[in-house]
Amino acid sequence: MKIFKHKLLTGFALTTSTIILLNSCATDPLSPGIEFMPDMYRSVAYKPYEENPNFKDMLGARPPVTGTISQGEFPNSVWGINNSIYPYPNSNEGYEAAGLNLKNPIELTPENLEKGKAIYTKFCTPCHGDAGDGNGSIVANGKFPTPGKYWDKVASAGLNEGKMFHSITYGKNLMGQHASQVTKEERWLVIHYINELIKKATPAANTPAANDTIKK
Ligand code: HEC
Repeated sequence: MKIFKHKLLTGFALTTSTIILLNSCATDPLSPGIEFMPDMYRSVAYKPYEENPNFKDMLGARPPVTGTISQGEFPNSVWGINNSIYPYPNSNEGYEAAGLNLKNPIELTPENLEKGKAIYTKFCTPCHGDAGDGNGSIVANGKFPTPGKYWDKVASAGLNEGKMFHSITYGKNLMGQHASQVTKEERWLVIHYINELIKKATPAANTPAANDTIKK
């Protein structure tokens, strides 16, 4: 809030049923004189690029508090290094490192699974199919080769949630990157849902991608 240093002349005018507060900025050359409800015209809050004498550097626009992260981002602890930007490069080494280090930071709950399902249905089913068996609509009508079954990749290539996150972020071979379509938070939600599909298809398997338990 601004603290007005100039003198304020405040007067009260009583009418039959209302009290009107009148302010006049006597020393302000730009003051229009007597104003009715002055706050409606001139904000008491500082504008972002206005000088603010409450701070030593006089800057009105303040930097975010240390540790602030933007929406859809995750704290440094999630990435395992001191960097809130996704730190694994688009390479085989980056893929393996993501597989080793990344853990889903989002709680597995029925609500989060529903959210994951909604994202999956919107962005992934045309290729991967409702069940995750790689038989989506554009595969069934012969327009796109099958991506294969998620659970086969768990068994054959150790697909886990970190590798999934990496592949969804950068894309993999024929699958384009999805970083611009699904936020990091949405990627983790959809990964919970893919793990459910894997569990449904391979109930006996106890793979790294499929050993979560739902918190009720
Ligand atoms: C245009 C078709 C297409 C769409 C849409 C698509 N994918 Fe894929 N996806 C593929 C193909 C093809 C592969 C196989 C890539 C390979 O291993 O060669 C694949 C592979 C994957 C894998 C395994 C990656 C790995 O590391 O082996 C995951 C996980 C995956 N997709 C998740 C998703 C999710 C989540 C979405 C939606 C947000 C999605 N995909 C949308 C075609 C698609």
